[in-house]
Amino acid sequence: MANETIKNIKERRSVRKYIDKKISKEILEEIIDCARLAPTGNNRQAWSFLVITDAEIKSKIASYARYGRFIEEAGACVAVFVNQDKATTSLQDASAATENIMIAAKSYDLGTCWVNSYQKEHSKKIKELVNCPQEMELMTLMSIGYYDEDDVSMPAKKSLSEVMVWDKF
Ligand SMILES: Cc1cc2nc3c(=O)[nH]c(=O)nc-3n(C[C@H](O)[C@H](O)[C@H](O)COP(=O)(O)O)c2cc1C
Repeated sequence: MANETIKNIKERRSVRKYIDKKISKEILEEIIDCARLAPTGNNRQAWSFLVITDAEIKSKIASYARYGRFIEEAGACVAVFVNQDKATTSLQDASAATENIMIAAKSYDLGTCWVNSYQKEHSKKIKELVNCPQEMELMTLMSIGYYDEDDVSMPAKKSLSEVMVWDKF
């Protein structure tokens, strides 16, 4: 029997359709607490986690991000920023934190979807919109929200034997 962590990892799926239900501040804080505990190169932690619940700001972000329109319907949106002058591993650091966010969210029955936002056209607009300090760069962006299980499709995944290699290729 898989433990809860394994279960949450295995059952996580990208969610792009959300129901209209508010996420509590306590849950969002707990999720970001998991993000900030992710590993970083040299333990630099040169990051900020911007949590957006304001409908107007979310709606603007959704309109900027061509492949993230669903952000508008999500209860929250999280943007991970890293100071690239201070962290040479910025993308890896942000990605580790992003996965923590997704798994922590899943443990609260919340769905997430990563929206590709590293050096994209919409990244600059989002930075401006949220008064992001010059030295910070948008690394990842994701939606978080409650959802209906029936709306989530199961993407095809490669089997373990297709991707796992022992000792040498
Ligand atoms: C770096 C990265 C960028 C992604 N960007 C988008 C995106 O812009 N829009 C979107 O709908 N999904 C995006 N996704 C989600 C993927 O499409 C999804 O993870 C993949 O289809 C596998 O499905 P699963 O997450 O349900 O396992 C992104 C995922 C990653 C890791």
